[in-house]
This record gives sequence, C-alpha cells and structure tokens, in this order.
Amino acid sequence: MAEIISSESHLKVYASIDQLPDQEQALIEAAKTAALRAYAKYSHFQVGAALRLEDGSIIQGNNQENACYPAGLCAERVAFFAAKSQYPDKTIEAVAVVAKRTEESEFRAAAPCGSCRQVMSEYENNQAGPIRLYMMDSEGKIYESPSIENLLPFKFSEASLGIS
Ligand code: THU
Repeated sequence: MAEIISSESHLKVYASIDQLPDQEQALIEAAKTAALRAYAKYSHFQVGAALRLEDGSIIQGNNQENACYPAGLCAERVAFFAAKSQYPDKTIEAVAVVAKRTEESEFRAAAPCGSCRQVMSEYENNQAGPIRLYMMDSEGKIYESPSIENLLPFKFSEASLGIS
C-alpha cells in the first residue's frame, strides 16, 4: 500500500476591497496603476504587481513583452527582481497582482504563473516571515493567500539542492 502525502491550499475571499486594511487597498491600487503601464504589445494582457517592503515602501512591476516572445518577463518577476536588486535585505510583506485585457476596462482574475511562484517562493524562504498575496477578480472580489508556500506545495527549493 502506498502512503499518501497531501497538501491543502486555501484562499480567503473578501467581497470587496473595502473590507481590507488601508495599506492593502493601497497595494492593490498600485498594482492596478502598474498594469496600465504594462508593455503587453503581443498578448494585450496587462498584468500589474505591487509589493510592499517592511518599511512601507511599494515597488511596482508589470509584464514586459518582446517580439522574441520568451525574452519577455511577467509582472511579478519584474517587481520582485526590482525590489531585491535595490533592497536585498528588506523583508517583503505582501504583493498584489491584477490583470486586464487592453481592450477591456475591467480587471480580471489572474493567478501568478508557476515560474513567478517559484521566484517569489525563493525570497519567502530566505526572509523572516511569509509574503501575503492578493488577487482581484472582475467582480471586485479579493482573494488572499497567506503565503507563497500556500500556492506552491511540494516545491523545488535550496533544500532540494542539498545545500541547506
Ligand atoms: N503574465 C504575467 O505578467 N504574470 C503571470 O503570472 C502570468 C502571465 C504575463 C506574461 C505575458 O506578458 C502575458 O501575461 C500573457 O501571458
């Protein structure tokens, strides 16, 4: 008989952004303004990410596409790499991710891709506390993940490399 190991992921759902503390509302608004500046010439799918550091400062990122498609980068990685390249020792408290199609005015639900989860997980593993993640759907509902770990069970990490 094989043993089963399992992992349960969960999201907290808020009916509207008004139910969140002011600083989380501001983070989601910063993700929205970032999405509007995305360079999404090929997909017309604009993604914005905004993360907050322990000192309260907000770093934004958006997807940057390229005629050579794989050379582009997702919003989350643009934001995380910007933050960690400028403030390598600052803890990241939370990140908000929103998306919209260029031709639409409404934002729509989009969860971070696997590569972005992997990148965010790397930094979460190497800081003191979890990174909360917020997403928003087209009805304005907010989805909160308590950590990146919650979105990436059974992950590859430095432990897999045998160096920790
Ligand atoms: N994209 C992101 O920016 N973040 C994700 O987590 C998923 C996808 C971008 C990449 C590409 O520019 C566009 O969305 C369509 O895939």
